[in-house]
Amino acid sequence: MNEPNVLVTGAGGFIGHHLVKSLVGRGFRVRGVDLKSPEYEPTAAQEFLLLDLRRWESCLRATEGMDHVYALAADMGGIGFIESNKAVITHNNVLINVHTIEAARQNGCSRYLYTSSACVYPGYLQDRADVTPLREEDAYPADPEDGYGWEKLFSERVCRHYTEDYGLLTRVVRFHNIFGPLGTYDGGREKSPAAICRKIAAAANGDAIEVWGDGEQTRSYCYIDDCVEGIYRLMQSDHGEPLNLGQDRMVSINELVDMIAAIAGKRIGKRYDTTKPQGVRGRNSDNSRLRQVLQWEPRITLEEGLGVTYDWIAGRLAATRPAVVTAAC
Ligand SMILES: NC(=O)c1ccc[n+]([C@@H]2O[C@H](COP(=O)([O-])OP(=O)(O)OC[C@H]3O[C@@H](n4cnc5c(N)ncnc54)[C@H](O)[C@@H]3O)[C@@H](O)[C@H]2O)c1
Repeated sequence: MNEPNVLVTGAGGFIGHHLVKSLVGRGFRVRGVDLKSPEYEPTAAQEFLLLDLRRWESCLRATEGMDHVYALAADMGGIGFIESNKAVITHNNVLINVHTIEAARQNGCSRYLYTSSACVYPGYLQDRADVTPLREEDAYPADPEDGYGWEKLFSERVCRHYTEDYGLLTRVVRFHNIFGPLGTYDGGREKSPAAICRKIAAAANGDAIEVWGDGEQTRSYCYIDDCVEGIYRLMQSDHGEPLNLGQDRMVSINELVDMIAAIAGKRIGKRYDTTKPQGVRGRNSDNSRLRQVLQWEPRITLEEGLGVTYDWIAGRLAATRPAVVTAAC
């Protein structure tokens, strides 16, 4: 039997780029689509199209001849970006997602995986640092992250209705803070692990780095190699309901800073800026259903993943600003 033709949207971005590499490694023929090519290394996709997926014609072109669609394209970033760009995020992502899924249906694609987020979970369940891990059914009654989270929850519903009304097999994955090398680490869209790695790589031994909030807010983090394995397993599964994909080890931002400082071999202090956005107070993933559905769970430790990520970001800084990093070592 022929392997399915696979489309990855957002293939110029962090997770999409890694996913393309892994699918090509598994023997699939992959078409990548994005507004931009991957920033840090060439794509592994056999075909790569530069298209704006907010546009209907681009979505028809992207999905033409495809069997499976991994829909990762989104206008997104860390908490600083999503809290101050709600109109543009909801506008762009609604257009991308409704056009991509309808084009996939019209072009006869058989499976469609949508990448949602832990940001769909209600704020009222995440107001303490020692939060109870979030189960998939906790998403309702809805009170998601304003802007970005509401759009994700809406697009999850769109997937459900396309399955109910048209029989399109949809898969919905809710990521919990994916990190790793080849991800954005500066410019305002970076997330906490990459931002902290960058700050520590640029700091001298004994310096203090800026921490947003009081550093006691908690999160769980999942390394990129586990993420792409989980995405693939979910696509192959027969699970049509949303599924968490993350680690269930929760750490505070202060602990994360200390872990990265230890990896860097530096003494690093913290300067707290409580005027900066912090997101919810605590968030963790309940992975019971993940284990049951995928017969698998993420296994790369936070320390291992941060080690690889720190080395990559420090290497990038050393290549662009050798004097600063040399002085810091
Ligand atoms: N990284 C995480 O921790 C995380 C957490 C939750 C959900 N997600 C979701 O996973 C998906 C991938 O995230 P990522 O971390 O790789 O983000 P990313 O920003 O690195 O990748 C998204 C890609 O989408 C592309 N894109 C944006 N608008 C587009 C358009 N109009 N047409 C075509 N391409 C467009 C961007 O250029 C970018 O390359 C997104 O849907 C995101 O919301 C990620």
